[in-house]
Amino acid sequence: MTQANIGVVGLAVMGSNLARNLASREGNTVAIFNRSYEKTQTLLDAHPEAEFVAAKDYAEFAASLSKPRTAIIMVQAGKGTDAVIDALTEVFEPGDIIVDGGNALFTDTIRREKAVRETGINFVGAGISGGEEGALNGPSIMPGGSDESWVTLGPILKSIAAVAEGEPCVTHVGHDGAGHFVKMIHNGIEYADMQLIAEAYDLIRRGTGKTPAEISAIFSEWNEGELESYLIEITAEVLKQVDAETGKPLVDVILDQAGSKGTGVWTVQTSLDLGIPVSGIAEAVFARSLSSKPAQRAAASSLPGPSETISVADPDAFIENVRLALYASKVIAYSQGFDAIVAGAEQYGWDIKKGEIAKIWRGGCIIRARFLNRITEAYAENPGLVALVTAPFFVDVMARAQDAWRSVVSDAAKAGIPAPAFSSSLAYYDGLRADRLPAALVQGQRDFFGAHTYKRTDKDGTFHTLWSGDRTEIEAVDTH
Ligand code: 6PG
Repeated sequence: MTQANIGVVGLAVMGSNLARNLASREGNTVAIFNRSYEKTQTLLDAHPEAEFVAAKDYAEFAASLSKPRTAIIMVQAGKGTDAVIDALTEVFEPGDIIVDGGNALFTDTIRREKAVRETGINFVGAGISGGEEGALNGPSIMPGGSDESWVTLGPILKSIAAVAEGEPCVTHVGHDGAGHFVKMIHNGIEYADMQLIAEAYDLIRRGTGKTPAEISAIFSEWNEGELESYLIEITAEVLKQVDAETGKPLVDVILDQAGSKGTGVWTVQTSLDLGIPVSGIAEAVFARSLSSKPAQRAAASSLPGPSETISVADPDAFIENVRLALYASKVIAYSQGFDAIVAGAEQYGWDIKKGEIAKIWRGGCIIRARFLNRITEAYAENPGLVALVTAPFFVDVMARAQDAWRSVVSDAAKAGIPAPAFSSSLAYYDGLRADRLPAALVQGQRDFFGAHTYKRTDKDGTFHTLWSGDRTEIEAVDTH
């Protein structure tokens, strides 16, 4: 039997495309397996050029792989993944490598890595971004797992990853669940970016009365400049699509209730646990939930709004303001996402190189964008950068964008147009740069009703006030 150097389990569209991508690279022979053989046969029939080695059961699949056996699982995240891992650990041997290429929750990956490691087999959770097209032609890949598995896996993954400026979009992110953690944050940023773009579209449409086709042209133009990115590019495509049945812009026929598969929620839940304010990402998740509450929306549709509608005197100036607000808010989403990566790395003991992450997001993935190079540069200049937005390049962006950003957020509020991601990003920015925050008052309130104590600005120690109205008596609190 022909020996394959890599195998794929799970031949739905992502798995099939990844298998074809692997087979198309020199030096690879690809074993394939699917729970029902029908899918395997369909792939064999459709792509004889791939010269796949097809297996009918797990034993045959294992026998078709050269050692160390390496298999990438491409099944829906969740219980299905555990079943495949169990089956593979039965037929694999110590030193072999099982890769989970699905969107697994990183804590599941940590658990699975620990359990599989006990058998001597390597387990690697690898985030793979780029959708169907990326899987076929070159995704961005975020693998975790052991150093040992990276030795075998690295060259294979490099052979199929997207290439950005001559470099493959894959790096060994860190141990155990680090890869899936970073993929989760990638998706959180993806949610924020999509919501920001959607808010920009809505503001331009309601502010200037332009049609979706006209706004498509604006996005295409933006894609020539500093906002160049995959998401801006596909937005232009979506907006110019006409519905074949009604002749209307397709965006007007699509039900306005956004779905989700959960990775955005995970990003926010995880960041809350880590104490990281990923407010832009959270607003994007909340905006999807709000959109998907038709009963509440119907009940609230007659609530009072502002008496005046938006009036834009100079449409071109307004559109430029929206562009700048989008750019500034996007920088905030990335800054918050990288904060979560730093906190996650600290919490779980991963050595994650932030600049490398920005590099592997330059190609293949959904959030690929021109300005990722600036993020890599920012971390190269200052690896200890405490907030991405404070890097000199981004300080310049903020200086250029802030007036426009403020004006757009205030126009939106006055006109009753929801712009939650724009406005929360601005509030985060102002909160971060404030000399003094009203958190001092919150501390006072906490001490008043719960004797929770506070620190002072003028001396060390922990204090509690005997709250007596117009005169304060303080006492130092012994916290030991
Ligand atoms: C990617 C995408 C991909 C998928 C997500 C988002 O990086 O290729 O992020 O993983 O599109 O599952 O899906 P939802 O919007 O449905 O949560």
